[in-house]
This record gives sequence, structure tokens and C-alpha cells, in this order.
Amino acid sequence: MLQHDVLIVGSGLAGMRAALEVAQDPTLDVAILTKVHPLRSHSGAAQGGIAASLNNSTDQDSWELHMYDTVKGGDFLVDQNAAEIMTREAPENIFELEHMGCAFSRYDDGRIAQRRFGGHTEPRAVYATDRTGHALLTVLFEQLLKLGVKVYSEWYALDLIVRDGVCQGLVVYDILTGQLETIAARGVMFATGGYGRAFRVTTNSFASTGDGIVLAYRAGIPLQDMEFVQFHPTGLQGSGILLSEAARGEGAHLTNADGERFMERYAAERMELAPRDIIARAEQTEIDEGRGVTDLRDSVFMDLRPIGEERIRYALPAVMHLAKDFAGIDPLKEPVPIQPTAHYSMGGIPCDVDGQVRLKDQEDRPIVGFFAAGECSCVSVHGANRLGTNSLLEAVVFGRRTGRTLRNRVKDLDPTRITEGDMVDAVAEVDRFMTGHGDQKVGAIRADLRDLMMEKCGVFRSQALLDEALGGVKDLQERFTRAAIDDHTTTFNTDLLDALELGHMLEYSELIVVGALTRQESRGGHARVDFPTRDDEHWFKHTLAYRDEDGPRLEYSEVNMQPQYRDPYPPEERKY
Ligand code: FUM
Repeated sequence: MLQHDVLIVGSGLAGMRAALEVAQDPTLDVAILTKVHPLRSHSGAAQGGIAASLNNSTDQDSWELHMYDTVKGGDFLVDQNAAEIMTREAPENIFELEHMGCAFSRYDDGRIAQRRFGGHTEPRAVYATDRTGHALLTVLFEQLLKLGVKVYSEWYALDLIVRDGVCQGLVVYDILTGQLETIAARGVMFATGGYGRAFRVTTNSFASTGDGIVLAYRAGIPLQDMEFVQFHPTGLQGSGILLSEAARGEGAHLTNADGERFMERYAAERMELAPRDIIARAEQTEIDEGRGVTDLRDSVFMDLRPIGEERIRYALPAVMHLAKDFAGIDPLKEPVPIQPTAHYSMGGIPCDVDGQVRLKDQEDRPIVGFFAAGECSCVSVHGANRLGTNSLLEAVVFGRRTGRTLRNRVKDLDPTRITEGDMVDAVAEVDRFMTGHGDQKVGAIRADLRDLMMEKCGVFRSQALLDEALGGVKDLQERFTRAAIDDHTTTFNTDLLDALELGHMLEYSELIVVGALTRQESRGGHARVDFPTRDDEHWFKHTLAYRDEDGPRLEYSEVNMQPQYRDPYPPEERKY
């Protein structure tokens, strides 16, 4: 058995930022466990920026305005205590990252540059051209190396051990050797990322298969607001590869087959800088009504040429290269076909503003020793729809806070108990594939799931579509009981990992669909054509999915309307 004081699962921004905080106390032994090398974590794919009201290109901004934009952008499902903390703490987090060495883009006078992003009233995206996530990830990784934090790189978490409301540690799998191990830790933190891989068209990395949230769910923890999945408006047609919103922040236009800037009809004031849910629905409407482009008519155009060549080359080099490399299109010369692409998981593991995972039951009990931050968590700072650039911010603000909580509390937690018996479920899960036979292929089930979720539970939803989605997920779950893999070796068995990940995808997809089916209103990223308006009277509440023997059971909890330093923002009509 391996042992640490603190074990952090996931090596993106939230996980690394937390580890740095814990490592400030040299008497604490902290380790990170990650299924990919830290520099391949999905945070590295974030492009356009990280939000903070620095007021470097305006004097109109404030944390209050940032908070208001966040609450309104999230269609008022945002917990306002969390939004307040995130926006108030944003500037100090940016300066800290800068002091660690992050090479943010700057104005000629040396101040950190800021640009516009959708749903933000003021230009508050701090950026490193359009490789912001990568710049932050490398800087944090350097700090980890400096502090000598132990990293289990390419290890996979199989089971979260919780006994009597106390987290004991994990069962893990060494991808290099195929060995199963237990790791005991008084403090376990999940920073395992989102669940967008369940959709065919997505910006998400191959690793974003919702492993952490399903491990938590299987350990008896509810999952919150799973039905809220964000579709980013500008994925490259076909693949869904992210072309940063920063392009629109810099002045790119969206046009349809008739050459119209169609956003005029949907958000006349903000146009291409409305929040993502509104633009994704506008695009999908244009496509559905026959004004799509390309031979397939399944996309619209993003035209970068109004920005000008010099600025594109300086501020959007990744967007330019992605369009060239993956679509053979030079955005300096022609518009790029784009479409809505599954991008961000608003739902996840419920936790408080210090990263403490909570059951959200009558007594709101914590799971002692278990913490979460970043996209796998639901602190709920994004509500029903996240604003661009708020995800990197959430990761660093709540990663830092959770790391501090762990540093301060972990010594007071009792030593944990792990026994051989704790490995039984994980061993059985692995053995099933390593020794079993079946007539179903993992790859085929996964492809069918991703098609199903895209077509029946995508930008627009309805009772009929969601009924089909639920039936489809259950069929796929049944096929999965008969799934087998071809590779039975122990070294880097990606066949096995694919199967384990698919088990997670099938489990959480059911929760997305059930949550969407039950929520009879439209709010943020959840748009029901049969219930087209927001219904605050009945649905101003968070969904909680608990795992019962015969399937998920839904309960609901209140939205937090208690910021500390100002009055809450009451729900209002969302106009842009
Ligand atoms: O479009 C983008 O650059 C993505 C940013 C984000 O999701 O925050």
C-alpha cells in the first residue's frame, strides 16, 4: 500500500495549483496522480484567456460587474457566494501567476493586456496570445518540479474508498505495469476534469471522460446539475476542435449562407459577443432553417478577416494554425466553417467554496477528507452556462483555496484505514475485461453513444428526443455488459482503459439525460423546445442525482443567494 498525507487526482490547473499550496508546508507529503502526463492535461487546450477585473484597458470594471456578468451569464443558477469569491480573488490570482513567470501578452507600456469575451461587459480576458492554458500549465508544472511534488504520471484511479462518510484513499492502476495498488491519504482531492467526450462533436481531449465524477457517484456522492453541458459556438466543422472565442473578441464575424451577420437577429447589442449558449442556439437555428454553409449545410462561417492580418498573426496564432492544419483553410484569406461543439461541463461533484465535497442532504454533511475543484466540481460558479475565460479562473481560484484548506485541515484528520477488501470491486472490474469474452466492441458502443448524445441531447432538446436518448443509453449500457477487449497484456493496455472510461461515460450520460428530461424549462445551456422559457417559480434550483440501486434518484437544492460583501443579484430577464 502506498501512502501520502494528500493525494490529488488530476494534473490540470486546479490540481497543480492545489498541490503548490499544500507543498508550502514542507511537513506535508503531497502527491499528484494523473492518467496523462501533466503537460497533456486538458487545461492546456484552453486558448483565449483568464478573466479578472484588472481595469487595464478600461476604468469601468470592478469585481461586482464581473460577478454580475457571471451570474447573468449563468442564467441565475450561479451560487452567488461562490461567484463573489471568484471575482473578488481574480486579480490577486493573476498577479501571483505572473510572478511565477507566466508570460501574459502585454501593452507597449508593459501592463498586462486584456481583451473582450462573450457576456463580459468589459474587456477582462488576460491572455498569452491564444495559448493561455498552455502558458499557465507549464508555469505551474515548473513550480511543482521546483518543490519536488511527487507525480504518479500515467496512473489511473479506479475506485474512491469512502467508509462511514470518511474518505480513506483510492484504488489505482499503474498504466505502465498493469499493477493495481491502494493509496491511503487523509486528504484526497479530485481535479479530474469534465465529461464532454460523451458527445461526438467536442473540444474536449480524449481524457475528458468524467472518471472522477463517476468514482464519486459510485462512492455515494450525488452529482449536481449534470444536465448543463455547454456548447461552444466555434468548433471547427466536423471535428469540433476549438477555435477560440478570442477570435470574436478580436472582431471576427459570424455569417450564414446568405452572408448575413445573423447574430443581429438574436443578440442585437452584443452580437458575436453574447454568451455562448445564446450564440450556439443562434447558429443551430440558422443551420436547422437551411442557412448553413458547406456542402453538408451543417455549419456557419466565422470570418476573421475584419481583424486584419497583423493582429491575427500576433493575437490568434493557434486559431490560424488549427484552421490550416485541420481544415486546410487559411483564415487570412477565407472564412472558416464552424459549428457548436460540446465544450464545458457545468455539472459535477458538489462542494463548498473551500473545496470540501458535500452530500447536500438535509444536514448538508461533508465527506470527511474528500475535496474537489475545477471542471469536475460544481461549486456552482457557472450556474447554467459558463462565461468564456471563467474556467481557468475557477480552476486557479478554487484550486488555490482547496489546496489551502487541505494544508490547514489535513493534520487534524484521522489516519485512514485501507484493507485488501477495498480492492475487490476494482479487481473485478479489471478482471472482467482481462479475462472475459463478449460479442460487443468498446469502440462501437462509444461511437454510438457519442452520436446519440449529440443528436438527442445536444443544443436543442425535447421530451421526444430525450426519451429516445434515455432508451438509447440504456440499450448501450446493456451492450456494454457484453463488451470485450482484444488486448489482454499488462503494459500500456489502452484497450482496457478505453473500456473502463466507456463504463464511466455510459453512467454519467444517463444522468445528463435524466436531468434534462426532468427539468421542464430552458435555462442557459439547457434548451427545451417544448419548454422554451426559464421557469424560476419551479426550476430555480440545483439538480442532485443520487445513485440508488434501481437507478438515479433526483433531488433538488437551493441556489445560494448570500454573497458576503454585497446584495445578491435577483433573477432578471437575460437580454444581450
Ligand atoms: O474560446 C476559448 O478560448 C475558450 C475559453 C474558455 O472556454 O474559457
